[in-house]
Amino acid sequence: MPLEFSERIRRIPVYPAAATYASDQPLVRLASNESPYPPLPAVKDAIAGALEQLNRYPDPTNSLLRKRLSERYGVPAARIAVGNGSCDILLAAGEALLEPGAEFVYAWPSFSVYPHLSAASGATGVTVPLDANDRHDLEAMAREITAATRLVVVCNPNNPTSTALPSSEIADFVSQVPGHVCVIVDEAYCEFNVLDDPESSVDLLAAHPNLALLRTFSKVYGLCGLRAGFALCGSERLVQALDQVRQPFFCNALAQAGAIEALAHQDEVEQRVARTIAERISVDERLRALGLQPADSQANFCWFELGGGDTEDATAREHDVMAGLTARGVLVRAGGALGRAGALRVTYGTSAENERFLTALAQVFAEIGAPVG
Ligand SMILES: Cc1ncc(COP(=O)(O)O)c(C=O)c1O
Repeated sequence: MPLEFSERIRRIPVYPAAATYASDQPLVRLASNESPYPPLPAVKDAIAGALEQLNRYPDPTNSLLRKRLSERYGVPAARIAVGNGSCDILLAAGEALLEPGAEFVYAWPSFSVYPHLSAASGATGVTVPLDANDRHDLEAMAREITAATRLVVVCNPNNPTSTALPSSEIADFVSQVPGHVCVIVDEAYCEFNVLDDPESSVDLLAAHPNLALLRTFSKVYGLCGLRAGFALCGSERLVQALDQVRQPFFCNALAQAGAIEALAHQDEVEQRVARTIAERISVDERLRALGLQPADSQANFCWFELGGGDTEDATAREHDVMAGLTARGVLVRAGGALGRAGALRVTYGTSAENERFLTALAQVFAEIGAPVG
């Protein structure tokens, strides 16, 4: 007899994890929007220092981490939620806010975890297509908000399309959303956004108790292996609800120690951001020289269509390009797995990694034909 699972297991999509491939050459990992730079030595030391105490449970209130975050952002510690990665907070928000009959509004294509929230809770997911520039269409999203809406997520900059909206547009949108609806602005990549000061959205929290800004140590701090994220919230009640639906020790001791130390090294973090932005400018220029039109990236990755014509052709072309890159040891993400066939999402790596990617892509185009239109 096969195991019998709950109804929600039939609904919950399986997360499209990036594949890793057996290869006899060093792989260029540009598939998961990770930092190409290893953790800072001081962060490694802090984590090593915490090893001695692993016989003790971690601080369930994450008090020192929340204190440091509070000092950095000027948001009271009681309005800061910490998570086992920011995904943990997203999933907790789904559990705390959604249920059958409730509605959850988000853009598509956007972060692949969002559909999970409605599927897991039995709420209705309402997806709103991106605009012609692959950015959130906030007017269309506002029109989808009803009395049943409990949660709206805006991903800024958006994964997978890399585009961002200016904070003035986010501010206008948030002020239109009724107070019973929680708005999460997922800012996993905000430090790479040059349209605005990444801290500008923090000012909105004072006026909007229903707002949460979701941030992570996974991207700019290069600590995705550690699993630490946080949300700056407009109300204490939201933080309490996020904590209520989770197990008590959701952020492990090494993650807390590493995240606390990482916050003390903003100068190095800024240098890494500057390097990534320099790579972004140079890679995007080279992509345009190959006949591609990358979206206006404000993130640590680019997004471009492969110019394959109708959906069937686009899918076939995506498959051929992915196969060609993989055969050359370059791992990127196919758009088809992220909501749009015929596109690629590629993380900016080190200069050497980007060179390998661009060389491989040029070789693949030489084999299968250059992009048209
Ligand atoms: C938009 C967005 N939000 C959240 C996350 C989750 O990051 P983590 O759980 O590692 O903090 C990611 C990871 O790729 C992301 O792209």
